[in-house]
Amino acid sequence: MKKMAIKIKATGGYAPSKIMTNDDFSKIMDTNDEWIRTRTGIKRRHIAENETSFDMAYHAALDAITKSGYDKNKIDLIVVASITSHVKTPSIANLIQAKLGLNDKNIVAFDINAACSGFVYALEIASSMIATNNYKSALVIGSEHMSSIIDWEDRQTAILFGDAAGAAIIEASDNEKDEVFFYNGSRGDDTGILWIDPKVKMAGREVYKFAVDIMPKAISKVLEKANLTINDIDVIIPHQANYRIIQSVAKDMELPIERFLMNLEEYGNTSAASIPFLLDEHKTHNKKSQKALLIGFGGGFTWGAAIINI
Ligand code: COA
Repeated sequence: MKKMAIKIKATGGYAPSKIMTNDDFSKIMDTNDEWIRTRTGIKRRHIAENETSFDMAYHAALDAITKSGYDKNKIDLIVVASITSHVKTPSIANLIQAKLGLNDKNIVAFDINAACSGFVYALEIASSMIATNNYKSALVIGSEHMSSIIDWEDRQTAILFGDAAGAAIIEASDNEKDEVFFYNGSRGDDTGILWIDPKVKMAGREVYKFAVDIMPKAISKVLEKANLTINDIDVIIPHQANYRIIQSVAKDMELPIERFLMNLEEYGNTSAASIPFLLDEHKTHNKKSQKALLIGFGGGFTWGAAIINI
């Protein structure tokens, strides 16, 4: 079978400017900064006031294009991971195509729902489609307006989430060293442990147990597929749900916590946006080529693990 060798050509990110602190939450519900910080590691989150998931996705896409000087006319595939679109159709990807002025091109554009694992799923879909040689350049985005689906009366879930978007543009690489590997999967939650119907409902402890169980397993599976060890990985980019979850994974894998990138203190859990947004934040400070391991989990239940050169 043909190897999937993929290069990330550009990354972009966007978070709305309005910040909501833990103290702001304590003014509207029975909670406090100390509880939120010690249970989750989150101090602030950014909240969209007049923007939709589409608006944030567009800002992140534009950021990727402008920062890198990428020729947007090369894009022939747009995949957006989101569970918070303001409309059911057109997809966010369709709207991005129009707003980027690419309606005259024959582009395939669609959204996917794999909750917080969405970006890693979208990356596998886009990589696979590029590997068929039918597509040359994919714009892959994770964008979430979580504040629009939060139950603002539920102190256990409301404090966890924030709004943001992250984007990556990928192309095929002729270097075999750029081969990408995935270990994505799902375990259907038909009992309502983590549902959005129409607002977020969650049995927090059950989700926590799922996360700390699946993350080390998915990491070791994707490393096995790539025939690598964790020592071959330069940077680990985990889904930003909870500091304690990441701490538990680090402990399980006998790794220092510093190996795991984090920005959840500032942004909270931004679902499908968390991995690409953090990837972009990292690339802004670190231009050199690195081998990254992306690891996400979320509603569905789903998980996504990828090894990719960034
Ligand atoms: N402020 C203050 N107290 C709170 C609170 C809040 N925001 N939320 C819950 N509590 C209270 C509970 O009511 C409970 O009180 P009680 O002991 O009097 O009944 C107590 O704190 C402990 O609640 P519990 O739910 O057992 O806490 P926890 O240690 O499991 O932490 C989460 C809760 C949500 C932080 C944790 O379970 C978690 O992070 N789960 C994973 C969630 C997640 O990542 N979801 C997204 C997946 S992509």
